[in-house]
Amino acid sequence: MKTVNETPQTLVEKDQRNIWHHMSKDDAKREPMIATEAKGSWITDHNGNSYLDGMSGLWCVNVGYGREEMAQAAYDQLKEMSYSSMSQSHLPAIKLAEKLNDMLNDEYMIFYSNSGSDANEVAFKIARQYHQQNGESSRYKFISRYRAYHGGSLGALAATGQPLRKFKYEPLTSGFLHVAPPDNYRKPESMSVKEYNLQRAREIEEKIIWEQKETIAGLIMEPVITGGGVLIPDPVYVEKVQEICNRHGVLLIMDEVICGFGRTGKTFGHMHYDVKPDIVTMAKGLTSAYLPLSVTAVRKDIYDVFNNTEENSHFRHVNTFGGNPASCAVALKNIEIMEQENLTNRAAVLGDKLRGELKELESHPYVGDVRNQGFVMGIEMVEDKETKTPATDQRVGKIIGECKANGLIIGRNGDTVAGYNNILALCPPLSSSDDDLDFIVSVIKKVFKNNE
Ligand SMILES: Cc1ncc(COP(=O)(O)O)c(C=O)c1O
Repeated sequence: MKTVNETPQTLVEKDQRNIWHHMSKDDAKREPMIATEAKGSWITDHNGNSYLDGMSGLWCVNVGYGREEMAQAAYDQLKEMSYSSMSQSHLPAIKLAEKLNDMLNDEYMIFYSNSGSDANEVAFKIARQYHQQNGESSRYKFISRYRAYHGGSLGALAATGQPLRKFKYEPLTSGFLHVAPPDNYRKPESMSVKEYNLQRAREIEEKIIWEQKETIAGLIMEPVITGGGVLIPDPVYVEKVQEICNRHGVLLIMDEVICGFGRTGKTFGHMHYDVKPDIVTMAKGLTSAYLPLSVTAVRKDIYDVFNNTEENSHFRHVNTFGGNPASCAVALKNIEIMEQENLTNRAAVLGDKLRGELKELESHPYVGDVRNQGFVMGIEMVEDKETKTPATDQRVGKIIGECKANGLIIGRNGDTVAGYNNILALCPPLSSSDDDLDFIVSVIKKVFKNNE
């Protein structure tokens, strides 16, 4: 939709009059960036300014903007058969489920929904019902990590470990417990990375035991905590967590909403480790956000516990839009593009290059740590490198603002844990060109230089 007959000023006024923006503090005064066109990694706004989108929207536009074949896939499917609920079936849903199982290298049952939050809610409901019907009806609690985000609905928010996202909305769904994640930058100096990661994993086991293991239904984790500050575990952590879950009958739910679909340099983030999740949730990069779609992939042996004729033992959950045929068709096209262009490998290559270029920032007075897993990077800003005191909001905001003024959109772990919203985030489209990467690097270096 082009801005024909609308001056930028009238658009802004109409926006301010009518739209309550997500996460926004001052809608009435703030001039929003009204995106009017986007192609590749670049967005144009209502004033004709261009920006490289170093966040892929909300960590989601993995194949980049403006792909005609994605629009065509949606158009063709909408024309042929626009809707069928997932109580029945349709061709794109069947093809996509088969493809996802190929990608997961296993046999999962694919449950479709609309968003990452939905996918996690479905995972929690399935896990609780599974234990009820599997002779362990006392298992209802979930463990997750502080600092991680799992969604905005009341259950997914309860799993989220970011108090600023919960404050004033509580009480949330009960039965959600939290443990600290490994934060290697802030580990005790006396410990090696491996010792520290193993200790963090053992804290999960302690939690399970102290809470009475027969009450724990599942553990949800992202392979890398993304929106909560790009916290990258050592592989020993994830593998130990799997072992602990297995030992105590706790289902391992892997939230691949951001890490999936190539972002970390593997098809799914958990594939960096020797683990096999019981449930995998996906959204965002599944369609590169061209249309809404999410998936809860559930291991067959869990599904089997639902697949009988006993009264009320089926999964009594429906959503109108989940598995929308056009969304599934777009997801299939998205995966085809990723494969044709080898974008998962590209994420690894671009991530390595980005780290190679930006690691030198660690000698900047206000940068404590630069870290990445594939093409998602965190730059942790501090006031003092010795004490690692997190940088102030003002200092972090100034870097983000100056990057934008120079044509680069970057993100941060905003509104997560009070005093710890000090980590800049970069998560550009995996289809970014070498020139795009050079642009990102040059803007970031320039802005940090101005802020020494
Ligand atoms: C790791 C993770 N899980 C779940 C969600 C929730 O997804 P949605 O916003 O589609 O509900 C998000 C959203 O940012 C996320 O980053």
